[in-house]
Amino acid sequence: MAADDFDWQEASPDVDEYLALRAAAGLSPFTHTAAERGLAGAWCAVCVRREGRLVGMGRVVGDGGCFFQIVDIAVHPSFQRRGLGGEIMRRLTETLRTRASDGAFVSLLADPPGVRLYERFGFRASAPASVGMFRRFTKDSGDFT
Ligand SMILES: CC(C)(COP(=O)(O)OP(=O)(O)OC[C@H]1O[C@@H](n2cnc3c(N)ncnc32)[C@H](O)[C@@H]1OP(=O)(O)O)[C@@H](O)C(=O)NCCC(=O)NCCS
Repeated sequence: MAADDFDWQEASPDVDEYLALRAAAGLSPFTHTAAERGLAGAWCAVCVRREGRLVGMGRVVGDGGCFFQIVDIAVHPSFQRRGLGGEIMRRLTETLRTRASDGAFVSLLADPPGVRLYERFGFRASAPASVGMFRRFTKDSGDFT
């Protein structure tokens, strides 16, 4: 099955199919509200479908000028290792090449399955010069009143 056997769209998925694909790919959950707001805020997005069903995606979020982050790189387990992840990255980096500003800083957090894939597109670990850090804001931790 080649990448041509799939339908490619430069668009964000619907909220429900987004949350379902993240879960199927083993990525952490978000609330419906967070997903709705987040999907509307993408700088660019790629969806890949098979017979209408979302089987892969990726997005770039950011300020549109200086800083961008590649997020949501996910392929449904039934369709992994067929080149879809590579094609998603190729499309996103091509959009960055054509639309981002000179010197734009593009980062991502790589889970183990993604490391070699991202290296193929020129990404390098920031450590030890700098270390990526993150914090998740949750009601359970008392972050919201
Ligand atoms: C990472 C992911 C998007 C790759 O998608 P894919 O369609 O399988 O990717 P491709 O077929 O284009 O393969 C690209 C490269 O990814 C790497 N890769 C893919 N699956 C992998 C796995 N299970 N373990 C290790 N490396 C893997 C390989 O380097 C592969 O290149 P190779 O086949 O030449 O060795 C997919 O495995 C996935 O959705 N994983 C779960 C979610 C996730 O971890 N996302 C990344 C978050 S940072």
